[in-house]
Amino acid sequence: MISIPAYRSLVGHRVAATSFQPLGPAAYCDVNTVRSIVLIGMMGAGKSSVGRCLQRRTGLARLDIDEILAAEFGIPIAQIFATHGEEKFRATETNALRNLAPDRPAIIVTGGGIVLRSENVNLLKKLGTCVWLTADEATLFSRASRRNDRPLLQKENPQAVYSELLRQREPLYAAVADLQIDTSGKTHDEVSETILARIEQLAPK
Ligand code: S3P
Repeated sequence: MISIPAYRSLVGHRVAATSFQPLGPAAYCDVNTVRSIVLIGMMGAGKSSVGRCLQRRTGLARLDIDEILAAEFGIPIAQIFATHGEEKFRATETNALRNLAPDRPAIIVTGGGIVLRSENVNLLKKLGTCVWLTADEATLFSRASRRNDRPLLQKENPQAVYSELLRQREPLYAAVADLQIDTSGKTHDEVSETILARIEQLAPK
């Protein structure tokens, strides 16, 4: 079995990365056999992209709650908000979280508003190591505005809305997070690398 540092040095190399990728889960599970990695943070924090990257690096399954909701309703998130309203979205989001019981560690990607309900906070804590992806506000907002399918930002002054959401939610993310990772100026690969290294530090020696 290969250790995380050794695995890390190998995945930096293209050829080795391909041939050694199947050992990823073993390496990850070596340091943390029981806990999933739960990504939390604002819209634009990079949760979905980093989730895909972590999935590639570790070989673990990826469960994306927004994807689960879109599949359940059979329509995109923006349309869920438009047709059923935010309350219905939030109720279904909590339900999806309640029903999430991976039998093996997984990469769990959440929507930015997951921390709004206290029931969710308890469920998230039980699910795994909660990793809060952060960046400075300008970076977060500029990333979040690259896509125009985020219903909460389809407003007259999206920047002000974003700012207010960030102000309200920061303490909620802080309360649930086991780790906070600053993603400013980092690639998804670098963020993933940092997450795995920090989780390794959390693991009992
Ligand atoms: C939301 C964030 C979105 C999505 C929905 C609500 C929020 O996910 O769940 O539009 O309340 O911040 P992302 O954080 O992946 O954009």
